[in-house]
Amino acid sequence: MLDQYGRNITYLRISITDRCNLRCKYCMPNEVTDVGMKNILTFEEIWEIVRAGVSLGITHVRITGGEPLVRKGCADLIRGIRAIPGVETITMTTNGVLLRTYAASLKDAGLDGLNVSLDTLDFEEFASLAGRQNLKEVLDGIQAAKEIGLPVKINAVNRKELNPISLVLYAQQEKIPLRFIEMMPVGYGKQYVGRSNDELRACLEDEFGKSEMITYQANQKKQISHMVQTLHTKEVPIGSGPAVYYKFSKLTIPVGFISAIHGKFCESCNRVRLTAQGYLKLCLCYDKGIDLRQILRGEETGQNEKNIQKALNEKLTTAMRAAIYKKPAAHCFEHPEEMTEINEMVKIGG
Ligand code: 5AD
Ligand code: SF4
Repeated sequence: MLDQYGRNITYLRISITDRCNLRCKYCMPNEVTDVGMKNILTFEEIWEIVRAGVSLGITHVRITGGEPLVRKGCADLIRGIRAIPGVETITMTTNGVLLRTYAASLKDAGLDGLNVSLDTLDFEEFASLAGRQNLKEVLDGIQAAKEIGLPVKINAVNRKELNPISLVLYAQQEKIPLRFIEMMPVGYGKQYVGRSNDELRACLEDEFGKSEMITYQANQKKQISHMVQTLHTKEVPIGSGPAVYYKFSKLTIPVGFISAIHGKFCESCNRVRLTAQGYLKLCLCYDKGIDLRQILRGEETGQNEKNIQKALNEKLTTAMRAAIYKKPAAHCFEHPEEMTEINEMVKIGG
């Protein structure tokens, strides 16, 4: 569906747990209080929301966390989402620690691809940044996904201390696309914001040669009744998301840059987020949204099972439509005082 600014919302990110098996300094450095399973959406509730989302035009679902693989039955959840007509792709963002264990069942459940978060290849730095010594498991998990034919990308957050060269060399050797994400001032990330992706790209050019944006020729089309008229062709970046990919002259893998701060892409934002507790969030920057759990768990009486189901679907769809329509125009990270999101990233899922 289109929101009030004409953006087509096709992408739903679903956080399925607030828990994580790492303690990344910029995300959830400290122990968090457990919210309890009864406050977390059940798989059935998530499927219900996806069904309503699909009827509003959602075609792509990404599973996030916390760390999604710490939730029991994650592959079953994915299998259920896969079975919903209208869901075209389903992907996951994971820290990779448990990937070796679950790669086969995720593939079998119909997962289309994985983003693995990996900020360093240095064992000591990993332990100090992520609070646990699990780099070996992460690298092994990436291998497992590759072996089984699950497409993998690597995401690294652009911290000031980041050593991008070693990550690029690893990604090149493993032939895995790599993306750098600008640190966003959400939760603990506030203390880390600094280097822009342009600075990072310049530093990579010193090592890997000139970089050129990877584009393709898109026909700009105008619809006049049943006729589609080609107006002009334009070079647009590849990919369907916010990453802009570059080809460096000495590399064969594409390197992507997600520049939420210095290259604001809100105009083309196509996504909304669902928290593990069932809150539909419209933008990373604000707490604006709607509590879908409350709708899901509201009392329905005096009707048979089928009618209740239908009524619930209608209620959810109506509420989601109204909320999505009001998605904010843009984030306000450059004016932190206007931010209303107070949760840590671990609760939002990136
Ligand atoms: N800014 C940018 N990315 C972040 N992530 C966590 N916190 C931040 C932040 N403040 C990333 C993680 C992971 C994804 C889920 O979100 O590194 O890749
Ligand atoms: Fe680290 Fe991701 Fe876990 Fe946050 S959710 S602590 S970024 S692994």
